[in-house]
Amino acid sequence: MPADSFLRACRLEPVERVPIWFMRQAGRSLPEYHATRGESTLLDAVAHPEMAAELTLQPVRRYGVDAAILFSDIMVPLWAIGFGVDIVPGVGPVVERAFRSRADLKRLRGLEPDDIPFLEETVQGIKSELDIPLIGFGGAPFTLAGYLIEGRPSTRLHMTKKLMLTCEALWFNLMDRLASLVIASLEAQVSAGVDALQIFDSWGGVLGPDHYRRYAFPAHRRVLEAVRAMGVPSILFGLGAGHLLEQFAEMADVVGIDWRIPLEEARRKLGPGVAVQGNLDPSVCLAPWETVEHCARAIIRQNAARRGFIFNLGHGVLPETDPANLERLVEFVHRETENPDRMEDVR
Ligand code: CP3
Repeated sequence: MPADSFLRACRLEPVERVPIWFMRQAGRSLPEYHATRGESTLLDAVAHPEMAAELTLQPVRRYGVDAAILFSDIMVPLWAIGFGVDIVPGVGPVVERAFRSRADLKRLRGLEPDDIPFLEETVQGIKSELDIPLIGFGGAPFTLAGYLIEGRPSTRLHMTKKLMLTCEALWFNLMDRLASLVIASLEAQVSAGVDALQIFDSWGGVLGPDHYRRYAFPAHRRVLEAVRAMGVPSILFGLGAGHLLEQFAEMADVVGIDWRIPLEEARRKLGPGVAVQGNLDPSVCLAPWETVEHCARAIIRQNAARRGFIFNLGHGVLPETDPANLERLVEFVHRETENPDRMEDVR
């Protein structure tokens, strides 16, 4: 089997069949996940190498995906430097004392290897059992700033925008520190052995293109340039970021898109030098298999014959998802795209 199809697609090289993996593939929809996690908190699980390795490998065994993603969270580097972050089940990241003023900058110190002592053992444990690539990841500075300033998940990020537009110097200082923190975390993951890096800019889409260019892009470009220097492919994912794709294309090797933008249109905005990852609406996987198949086929028709395509959902797997649908989806994407006769159909 083509174990390197994911990395080849990232590099726009030909593949024998379209690679597929799922954002948030580890987790709540899998009974084995709940059995392994037991009562431990998310952060405890991340810091426990044997458990984190097992949680990373479970979806690989179950679904037969073409890439694994490290079991961690975008908030881990902030938690590791003692910023006071908790991940509350059913809510998400909650920050004990939200970021409000210049005085809070000193709480954002640099990340030292001793802050994440579990990482190397986790990655080694995973790699010893894995014959497909392992994706490491981090949050984009804008998305991390959103959590720090709002203090808890928010969809509009009004306080974040207020600080950004009112205290520019403080904003740029914060973005710079977050970029350094993320870069240090990504470097540690690459030294430990991950094969590719995804940057989640889950909330960047709340900014218009001009504000993104001015307030987020410089720090994000710094992160993605650092990833390029690390020598692994970069994936930049944004939710509701169709209006930002031209900027994403300037930064990343692969751009992850959600279902709000048709793949054809995304391709046009991204240009020929960038691979695309996406974009099945995760809610589709809650429907009967026939619906999943219909929607997946539409995506394959638009893309499978083009280089640089990685099949994924447009956001993370929903907890209510029946794992059987995801199993069948992997099989379906592989089967539909590896047979040259069927591929004629999509050219
Ligand atoms: O399989 C994987 O994808 C790897 C694990 C992973 C987690 N978080 C573990 C997790 C990944 C890739 C993330 C990324 C992440 N974390 C993002 C970017 C992707 C996105 O969803 O936009 C963001 C914004 C976070 C912050 C975060 N952590 C949120 C918003 C939540 C709550 C989500 C929810 O729907 O409940 C978390 C909690 C979290 N991170 C869980 C897991 C498995 C669930 C909580 C738990 O099991 O205790």
